Amino acid sequence: MIQNHKIAFLGAGNMAEALVAGILQARLSEPDFVLATDISPTRLKVVKDRYQIQVGSHNLDAVLWADIIIICVKPQVINEVLSNIQTGLTDKHLLISIAAGVPIKGIQAQIGQTIPLVRAMPNTPAVIQEGVTALAGCSGLSLENLKVAQSIFESIGKVVVVDESLMDAVTGLSGSGPAYVYLVIEALIDGGVRVGLPRNVAHTLAVQTVLGAAKMVGETGEHPAVLKDRVTSPGGTTIAGLQQLEEGGLRATLIEAVEAATHRSSELGK
Ligand SMILES: NC(=O)c1ccc[n+]([C@@H]2O[C@H](COP(=O)([O-])OP(=O)(O)OC[C@H]3O[C@@H](n4cnc5c(N)ncnc54)[C@H](OP(=O)(O)O)[C@@H]3O)[C@@H](O)[C@H]2O)c1
Repeated sequence: MIQNHKIAFLGAGNMAEALVAGILQARLSEPDFVLATDISPTRLKVVKDRYQIQVGSHNLDAVLWADIIIICVKPQVINEVLSNIQTGLTDKHLLISIAAGVPIKGIQAQIGQTIPLVRAMPNTPAVIQEGVTALAGCSGLSLENLKVAQSIFESIGKVVVVDESLMDAVTGLSGSGPAYVYLVIEALIDGGVRVGLPRNVAHTLAVQTVLGAAKMVGETGEHPAVLKDRVTSPGGTTIAGLQQLEEGGLRATLIEAVEAATHRSSELGK
């Protein structure tokens, strides 16, 4: 679907690189149709050497060349980049921004025109193509453009489409979520060490247990509580562990963590 569309990444950092790798590996595009800009010559050399894509240091030239523009700079510099490219943007472009916390109306105000625009919120496992991205389109966005954006982000994991008003909640769950799970994995490893396992063995057991459990929920489509009940035998080991987790308030704590991160995201967006 995006074959023969020229894609420009403005900002060639971690997220842009994840997307370039994903798009090329999924064969959604070819290196000649992908261009990245950056102010850092080092980053440009890295992405050129690794992916043989086009690189440049002029954002406006990239916009004039491209059909799809993906803004991958930090939120602090997005307004500067938008005002720099404003004269080259037309309603033939599809503009996608991954800048966290920057609303569609803020981007539209900065560019002073209404063009097809998608706001995306990926998360860091995108770098291994296991991310999840929430997409929100501007009002009037065509289904065709939404599908183009979906196919791009599906190359780095799963995609959900949400109303933009839910982006802070997305940030609180999947944006910050990898850190919560890292903490859980670290604690499981420490638990294993506490009961006598060598750390490397505990590491393998903990990582694969979290990965396997996530895949069980994702691939069987079963409610997590059903899967949990199935492995919890009367008077057994699992119910003893679960009781301890309930006493420690694990569930309430995770719910509150998502809520706190969502509030913080909304505060930062003001
Ligand atoms: N990482 C995440 O988990 C995540 C999740 C969701 C959304 N995001 C969003 O994704 C965006 C990129 O994040 P990232 O982690 O990839 O950041 P990053 O690695 O810092 O990449 C941004 C790149 O843009 C370059 N840059 C700065 N000013 C520029 C300009 N005027 N024109 C072109 N390039 C410029 C930066 O160069 P210098 O370093 O030299 O300034 C840097 O190489 C951010 O807006 C972030 O909010 C990230």
